[in-house]
Amino acid sequence: MSAAIDSGARAEPWGETVLVEFDEGIAWVSLNRPDKRNAMNPALNDEMVRVLDHLEGDERCRVLVLTGTGESFSAGMDLKEYFREVDATGSTAVQLKVRRASAEWQWKRLSNWSKPTIAMVNGWCFGGAFTPLVACDLAFADEEARFGLSEVNWGIPPGGVVSRALAATVSQRDALYFIMTGETFDGRTASRMRLVNEAVPADRLRARTREVAVKLASMNQVVLHSAKVGYKIAAEMPWEQAEDYLYAKLDQSQFADRAGARAKGLSQFLDDKAYRPGLGSFDPEK
Ligand code: COA
Repeated sequence: MSAAIDSGARAEPWGETVLVEFDEGIAWVSLNRPDKRNAMNPALNDEMVRVLDHLEGDERCRVLVLTGTGESFSAGMDLKEYFREVDATGSTAVQLKVRRASAEWQWKRLSNWSKPTIAMVNGWCFGGAFTPLVACDLAFADEEARFGLSEVNWGIPPGGVVSRALAATVSQRDALYFIMTGETFDGRTASRMRLVNEAVPADRLRARTREVAVKLASMNQVVLHSAKVGYKIAAEMPWEQAEDYLYAKLDQSQFADRAGARAKGLSQFLDDKAYRPGLGSFDPEK
């Protein structure tokens, strides 16, 4: 690897408001302001942009799990540092800059990130925290985690893309009920609403999330990338364009996949009769 590429990969841009631990291909990324219930301030937003950029090129990360240190996933945007202190500058430029960093990681980078992403909601999840939650491909929650669109409780409508993210995941009835009342709901309700894939007891949350993350980390990364990004981008397209784009994605995936997943998958089923694709995966090692 050239020095220019390698040097970027070595400087690890976390450790202040974000922690990263590596474990069998999983990067556990924790929002790390537990005293402030992991509220997202401008420093955390800037750090997360750098963390995502770094992890994209770090081979220790094949799957990213986003969670929070302590008793919170995240209490949303930091009301003091993201709102009051930015307002106090009286500067439109400062406001635009902090909004941009927030959007950059919470949905622009995260929603089409090249590797699989899982949100693990371990506690409080309010307002702005819904954006990275929905931007992740999958989500698992503690049954007792507490979610809320609390914006109306302190006098604003949801900002950023919080409402847009809800419209992409839950029904209009559920979205508007919680947006308009500001009431909280628990992990079980989040699962019933399909805001998260599953809600599990707190003592099983990490193990269940890890189980899915390890499975994804063991799979063909090129094929997974094409499958998830293809789904998300095609969802916004007219059907004609989606068909053309998804075939292009399929062709791209075969071209980019040096491990030859498709040829092996077909041969192990059609020639060797070694497995049934409907019931499980081919063996990439053979
Ligand atoms: N922005 C800024 N600070 C926050 C914060 C936020 N979103 N959420 C929590 N904090 C801070 C508190 O101000 C407090 O700081 P202090 O110790 O310096 O006084 C600290 O975190 C602990 O908060 P506290 O309210 O005492 O904790 P709790 O466990 O009793 O309650 C919450 C947790 C999450 C229910 C509560 O803090 C809360 O309602 N936070 C705001 C949630 C919200 O509406 N977010 C914005 C969505 S747009």
